[in-house]
Amino acid sequence: MTPAELVSVIRTIPDFPKPGIVFRDITTLIANGPALSATIAHLAALAGRIGVETIAAVEARGFIIGAALANQLCCGLIPLRKPGKLPVPTVGVDYSLEYGTARLELDPGMMRPGQRVLLVDDLIATGGTALAGLELLRGTGASVDHALFVVDLPDLGGADALRHAGVEVASLMSFP
Ligand code: PRP
Ligand code: ADE
Repeated sequence: MTPAELVSVIRTIPDFPKPGIVFRDITTLIANGPALSATIAHLAALAGRIGVETIAAVEARGFIIGAALANQLCCGLIPLRKPGKLPVPTVGVDYSLEYGTARLELDPGMMRPGQRVLLVDDLIATGGTALAGLELLRGTGASVDHALFVVDLPDLGGADALRHAGVEVASLMSFP
């Protein structure tokens, strides 16, 4: 399946999780074997040009995409977790996203200065989540020059904000 064909596999739910939010739901994509396989193949082709050592992925939907991609690339995955999940001292950042506020935490002991990390999530909207992940990773001395998403919502400005922070951003599809 091409990225254009994958667009039709994403489910759109109006007014979730709050009135006014147009929710782009990847549940229907990840439940569809050929669509999931094509998604990971397209992302792997993009990642193959980068020279990635490690993927960092955002809980929870980002784990599904990030873990499948890490397996395809034969690299490891660093989890960026929601609060209170990691069993060791963490570094954390509070942030806002399209429909609320949240916090991401990272085990800095997983990181090594200069490590080349590819940031992965299912979707970028305002960029609050991705920028929080970027701050955490760069705070450990990691090198984060690239980020990959399945879906971009460009009108919300997240991809541009990430580019402004010096990250090359790619996605398979965008919804106006
Ligand atoms: C969603 C999505 C991204 C984030 C993007 O995660 O998976 O991580 O929102 O929004 P932003 O660009 O405005 O920050 P959510 O926090 O809903 O968590 P989930 O993966 O657990 O559903
Ligand atoms: N995360 C942030 N905004 C979103 C949206 N509109 N659809 C799905 N996930 C999101």
